[in-house]
Amino acid sequence: MKHENFKTCDQSGFCKRNRGYADKATASGSSWTSPYQLDSKTVSVKNGQLTGVIIKTTEDGTGVFRLPLTISFLDSGVARITVDEEKRQKGEIELRHGSPARKERYNGVQDWVIVGGLTVDKDAVKHTSTEDETIVSYGPKKNFQAAIKHAPFSIDFRRDKETQIKFNSRGLFNMEHWRPKVDREQKEGEPAPPEPTEDESTWWEESFGGNTDTKPKGPESVGLDITFPGYEHVYGIPEHAGPLSLKQTRGGASGQYDQPYRLYNSDVFEYEMDTPMTLYGAIPLMQAHRKDSTVGVFWLNAAETWIDIIKTKTSSNPLSLGIGGTTDTQTHWFSESGLLDVFVFLGPTPKDIIQDYSELTGYSQLPQHFALGYHQCRWSYVTDEDVKDVDRKFDKSKIPYDVIWLDIEYTEGKKYFTWDKDNFPDPLGMQKQLDSHGRKLVIIIDPHIKNEGNYPVVDTLKSQNLGINNKENNIFEGWCWPGSSYWIDAFNPSALAWWKSLFAYAKFPGTTPNTFLWNDMNEPSVFNGPETTMPKDNLHFGNWEHRDVHNVNGLTFVNATYEALLARDDPKHQRRPFVLTRSFYAGSQRQGAMWTGDNLASWDHLEASIPMILNQNIAGFSFSGADVGGFFGNPSKELQTRWYQAGAWYPFYRAHAHIDSRRREPYLEASGYVEPIVQALRLRYSLLPAWYTSFYTAHTTGEPVMRPMWYVHPSDEAGFTIDDQFYVGDTGLLVKPVLKEGATSVDIYLPPLTTAPYYDYFTFETYPGNGKTVRLDAPLEGHTPVLMRGGHILARKERPRKSSALMKFDPYTLVIALDNAGRAEGELYVDDGESFEYQKGAFIHRRFRFGSSSSSSSSDKESGGLLLVSEDLNTSPTKQTTAFAKTMKDVRVEKIVIIGAPREWEGRKDVVVVEEGEKERKVAFTWKGAEKGRAGWAVVRDPGVRIGRGWRVEF
Ligand code: NOJ
Repeated sequence: MKHENFKTCDQSGFCKRNRGYADKATASGSSWTSPYQLDSKTVSVKNGQLTGVIIKTTEDGTGVFRLPLTISFLDSGVARITVDEEKRQKGEIELRHGSPARKERYNGVQDWVIVGGLTVDKDAVKHTSTEDETIVSYGPKKNFQAAIKHAPFSIDFRRDKETQIKFNSRGLFNMEHWRPKVDREQKEGEPAPPEPTEDESTWWEESFGGNTDTKPKGPESVGLDITFPGYEHVYGIPEHAGPLSLKQTRGGASGQYDQPYRLYNSDVFEYEMDTPMTLYGAIPLMQAHRKDSTVGVFWLNAAETWIDIIKTKTSSNPLSLGIGGTTDTQTHWFSESGLLDVFVFLGPTPKDIIQDYSELTGYSQLPQHFALGYHQCRWSYVTDEDVKDVDRKFDKSKIPYDVIWLDIEYTEGKKYFTWDKDNFPDPLGMQKQLDSHGRKLVIIIDPHIKNEGNYPVVDTLKSQNLGINNKENNIFEGWCWPGSSYWIDAFNPSALAWWKSLFAYAKFPGTTPNTFLWNDMNEPSVFNGPETTMPKDNLHFGNWEHRDVHNVNGLTFVNATYEALLARDDPKHQRRPFVLTRSFYAGSQRQGAMWTGDNLASWDHLEASIPMILNQNIAGFSFSGADVGGFFGNPSKELQTRWYQAGAWYPFYRAHAHIDSRRREPYLEASGYVEPIVQALRLRYSLLPAWYTSFYTAHTTGEPVMRPMWYVHPSDEAGFTIDDQFYVGDTGLLVKPVLKEGATSVDIYLPPLTTAPYYDYFTFETYPGNGKTVRLDAPLEGHTPVLMRGGHILARKERPRKSSALMKFDPYTLVIALDNAGRAEGELYVDDGESFEYQKGAFIHRRFRFGSSSSSSSSDKESGGLLLVSEDLNTSPTKQTTAFAKTMKDVRVEKIVIIGAPREWEGRKDVVVVEEGEKERKVAFTWKGAEKGRAGWAVVRDPGVRIGRGWRVEF
């Protein structure tokens, strides 16, 4: 990685200024008071909103600036705090250099990000209001309070009377007001101009790497300290390559960072591990966690942002004394421009936060079913024959895969919407072969458009002004893969309409309904731009500067592609788009999948992928993965195998490789390596029903598909820093991939659970949950170690096929892992896997429950025995439900496996009674007692019940 290409905090003017501000405010012995006061006379609380004006007084007392404040108390219990700057709002400022840019602080990011959850809680009530303080009670149970101190302005957010989050308690709130540039040059014959009272060196112009940012609006950053008293751990704010529990960034011990976490979407070539450096995407959501309590903040600002994190011993604030933790986490956020717009979540559970956040920014898309299969990519498959050959070789080696990908070389000279005619003379023929086994094609289309004659796409872009402009408001030209290029401005509604038209099948021959999309380089990556991206003074639609919108730029481009994929289909038969993106922002989870960009074929990159993907998941973006095998370089056989084994547990499972790397399709692996790779792939395919169900949960509740220990066990402090093992949705599967060279075992931590043991998924070996670490064998030729926690039921399919499409009507196996009370529960969600019909009820959603018949609520019979019941979770069936059920009427459960089967079953007549509708049948079952640490188990073969129906099995 080239460090010199990316700024450190010291090289970023506003970062340096805000850190400097913090130093000044917190210097020991300093008599600092924050110069912001909420004018008591302006405060009003009505209809769920508090409004008022914050007055900023400059240090010398000469300047007074008005900053309108709004606090909205939302129905969900989330509070939203917005501060603007009146002068800029009213356009009462002058821009330098005759810039045509907008004068206001950017207020449009919410239009791209927020899709719901903004209804205000009209019953939020003013509790007390004095000259000094206003207290508002809010939240569904009215147990939340915002205590707003007027002078200096600060807010304490309380839950059940205890302070959980504090704004501006350290006095770092900073809104750089507009001011005219004072010419400090002494002119001949004139008196010397006044000396500056502040360091103005980064106010008006900033140069980096040979580029100068002209900053026509002057300094306009916005910063705030947010403290979590009693909270030792903070998570979130992806994307960074570091541990899940975020490190300190100032004044910490060795091993901590000295730079703030940075969010400035960038194309970072060969990125490094364990750093707070920025990467391709940004989600400014942070969760703070301590035993039994989670709270959070979402900083809605699309400009370059940095976050400092400091941990200190708990202060003696009497309001935070009761909360148990001994450490406070102090954070300091600052963005280069835009509004202060922060959402506050008071929990108390991690689930509460992700649900509220997802209601605001949208739920993870429910992907097409194929997208959860395995994706085979490389830069690049060189001809259509090459693609067909790879496809055949997968089949010959009996290796399942769903999607093959084409990188930039398929185009004619990197002109998107064209095919290289020599190498891809027959894209349709190629796709016909893929189609014949239910496979799909993904092609890449990037936001840069080649600047070349006789290319209709660029002609329209230019003639209709659909591109991003430079600071003079002429189309911006820069370098990317095609050489000289322009960039589509996906903020522009006309550009969106145009983009949509380009994907029509007739307009883009060679594409079919099974051609899907990959949007890369959308940070945007500009090879000759500052920090490999766009100049900040470039202009977008509406004359907003690129500075204001940078982090949401990638999202707008994917939005255009997503809309385009919808538009190419007949509205009556629309299918869910699939788009993979490299750059992302809060809300991108609605549009498809992301991956962690250009990693290396090295063990540390394999290791880093797990916390990175976990972090995406807890930030509401479940559909995430990393290049299996590593993008740059050539993995050793062992690394390649371990990566396939670990990658089978990424929500998005794709192998990818750089153009200069050796071919490494799994069938090319040597004997001894190919077998475990195939096993890993088959395991992924067998569990697709469980994965799809987990995605449905993410889609409807926001709960992550891949869950870290602290999320699932919020009371277990020993798990708060663990980020190399995780659960898959609600399946009870706990996975610990092998991430170290030469390792043949892993140590897995099991939280103290009195209610259920863990069973080895493959051998049924039993482990108590006792708060200890257990060593599990993990030879290379075996599997990734996986345990299943008692109390869960999952569905899988056991027949190996070429692709997931061919498994559609295969029978299910139910795996039941019993808890200590002999009970278990789980869900299965099934739909057509491609259309939007599920939104009209075309799905099967079952809950399976195992337990004693007297404890099973749905049981009308009191047999006293043990029962497995299948209940319908679709509470409002429609005619589409019935129609879908018909298509699934012959799909049955072919096997039921019960792990932890009771000893009492020994010697019983080995039959179970199966009831479906009126029919009652006797079916044989096999029972095997516990031995040598392995749980007893039982198998019912072919119970004859159908997956979409209600039934019960009596044991
Ligand atoms: C950069 C992407 O990160 C990588 O995956 C891709 O292969 C190259 N661009 C070429 O398109």
